[in-house]
Amino acid sequence: STSWARTHEDFLQCLSLHSPNTTSISKLIYTPNNSSYLSILQFSIQNLRFTEPSTPKPLVIITPLHESQIQATICCSKNHGLQIRVRSGGHDYEGLSYVSEVPFVIVDLRNLRSITINAETNTAWVESGALIGELYYRIAEKSKTLAFPASVCPTVGVGGHFSGGGYGALLRKYGLAADNVIDARIIDINGNILDRKSMGEDLFWAIRGGGGASFGVILSWKVKLVVVPSTVTVFTLDRTLEHNATNLVHKWQYIAHKFPQELFIRAFVRRVNSSQDGKKKTIQATFQSLYLGGVDKLIPLMQESFPELGLTKQDCTEMSWIKSILYFHGFTNGEPLEVLLNRTQTSVLYFKAKSDYVKEPIPVTGWEKIWKKFYEEEAETAQMIFSPYGGKMDEISESSIPFPHRVGNIYQIQHLVYWLEEGEEASKRHISWIRRHYSYMAPYVSKFPRAAYMNYRDLDVGVNNKLGNTSYAQASIWGSKYFNNNFDRLVQVKSKVDPGNFFRNEQSIPSKEW
Ligand code: FDA
Repeated sequence: STSWARTHEDFLQCLSLHSPNTTSISKLIYTPNNSSYLSILQFSIQNLRFTEPSTPKPLVIITPLHESQIQATICCSKNHGLQIRVRSGGHDYEGLSYVSEVPFVIVDLRNLRSITINAETNTAWVESGALIGELYYRIAEKSKTLAFPASVCPTVGVGGHFSGGGYGALLRKYGLAADNVIDARIIDINGNILDRKSMGEDLFWAIRGGGGASFGVILSWKVKLVVVPSTVTVFTLDRTLEHNATNLVHKWQYIAHKFPQELFIRAFVRRVNSSQDGKKKTIQATFQSLYLGGVDKLIPLMQESFPELGLTKQDCTEMSWIKSILYFHGFTNGEPLEVLLNRTQTSVLYFKAKSDYVKEPIPVTGWEKIWKKFYEEEAETAQMIFSPYGGKMDEISESSIPFPHRVGNIYQIQHLVYWLEEGEEASKRHISWIRRHYSYMAPYVSKFPRAAYMNYRDLDVGVNNKLGNTSYAQASIWGSKYFNNNFDRLVQVKSKVDPGNFFRNEQSIPSKEW
């Protein structure tokens, strides 16, 4: 409407007034009139559900080169009643970094992605717009025995990933990415740039797992690098129902969280064809592992604790930690390490995902019932991914950072369904399947609250009001699932640092006074 066009104009004028170097900011601003607007918008979108013509689009996208341009954007958005969405890697499962139903501006941090590794102090400064694969690559450039415990997928952005927890195959040895953050720089609601010392321990606590988007714009993180052996061992083994999959998954639940911290074995299940004509189906469990050591130690360890899997030396490959990153991402054909620097995701799909935490092993009869759900038509591309906890995760207290899912959680489940067909119909069918599946899983997973992982964002677990105030009670519906008892402290921090609730979205921490 004309009034929004007006705001839009005023906003752009405000930006140029607040930017010391006007010519440079104008090149970093994209509006729908700009021919590259759509490609800039779609560049890092990971979920095709949010690329539809009907998906709400930003009035403006800004791709800052300087921190002052973010300060200007915060100031002008505030003055003109626009919401801002900050995007680092664009991997948000519900598109919250680039979709909003109220008039909004995207601050896209793709240009702010420098990485400085200090191999003497084993630390690194990483700007939020860097991808985790770029960080891994830069670490490996400096050292064969340093690493960082974060995402399995290298295209995830550091900005969202660290602020929501962040885990990968080093989880049992070193915990989450957020557990290994030791400093950060953030722009607050008043445009001030703060570091750990000037932001104080409360805000520094909140942004390590509580989601950055509620508190400001995180510019960069300082992280502690961790030590890995120069040789690690990986394997991937598939077992169908005809080859004992049910019992293997069942047994895995009792042992995967108790293995030595050096051993991480995750499991996936999905439906596959068991006859060439595709008429017969079965369930396949895949066991995929990273062991921080050589194969000669791994084999006896497996023979003692998980002999049923039948792991042999031939199933295993020894490699460097950085190669294991490629391996876990499916690059197993000798691709160069430089693929980690590639910001474009190889295949982007429509998907919907959910998460759960398991405290007691699911009985065999439970698994047999769950497999039946996977034979339903819509479950053709459905998966459950099980990530073992225990080890270091048990040693870190529930309130150390906002991420609360520690001792007592034996593994995490990610439920996932993806599809390729365009249009409402396909989307409805698959989303409805995963919702039914999620309800069906209720007896087997954590309860009161039914816990969820914030980085696997799921708006089905509860949302704020899109317009107007959201009560504490309403926000705690989703807040307690992601943060359990830490939700209250997050609300306190939010009320202090952003009482007017400027930094908000469908699942942002509410401020008390607002
Ligand atoms: P994106 O840019 O979409 O941001 C996510 C949220 O953080 C948004 O609310 C955004 O506004 C906010 N935000 C981003 N940058 C910010 C900043 N600088 N300051 C303030 N707020 C900011 N997770 C995991 O733990 N382990 C894994 O192995 C994987 N693997 C994986 C694979 C794939 C293909 C996807 C799509 C996702 C994952 N994830 C994951 C989940 C991932 O950790 C999660 O989506 C992160 O939030 C992504 O961070 P991005 O910066 O990419 O997201």
